[in-house]
Amino acid sequence: MSQDGFRSYQSLDELDADDRSLVKRAMENRSRAYAPYSKFKVGAAIQLSDGSIADGFNIENASYPMCICAERVAIGNALVRIPEMQIKSLAVIAGHTEEPAFPCGACRQVMYEMEYRQGESYRVIIASDSGHVIIAESAKALLPYSFRPDFLI
Ligand code: THU
Repeated sequence: MSQDGFRSYQSLDELDADDRSLVKRAMENRSRAYAPYSKFKVGAAIQLSDGSIADGFNIENASYPMCICAERVAIGNALVRIPEMQIKSLAVIAGHTEEPAFPCGACRQVMYEMEYRQGESYRVIIASDSGHVIIAESAKALLPYSFRPDFLI
């Protein structure tokens, strides 16, 4: 099923092999999340254009507002390792929800910045344990009318 820049899948088997393995990597990362307060573990994995993968999971803190989401940890990880990195796809899976849990607003803004920076869109794969997966064709699709870097110039 396809709608407004989003596609919906009912099972991981419907994904192509690269997407499926990226979701599995995000699941593995989720199991290592540091989420002692919410107990809501989230994992992310980014496929980079050089073929490598950047990992992320949420990192919480006793000072609750300091929690960092899995998506932003993965992006930071990718950018620190390869400053000129280009994202092809970002997969995220949140703690044992039936339906895909969509990225928060802050992560959407940061994901959009990376798309703007690289000048090319990338796919955001939002998975769930039930096998229901939604793929956004771009970060922009997740954040229309976003705040853009060129507003600052
Ligand atoms: N969280 C993420 O890692 N990604 C999101 O997009 C939304 C929420 C984390 C933050 C916090 O550690 C936990 O989920 C509960 O909000």
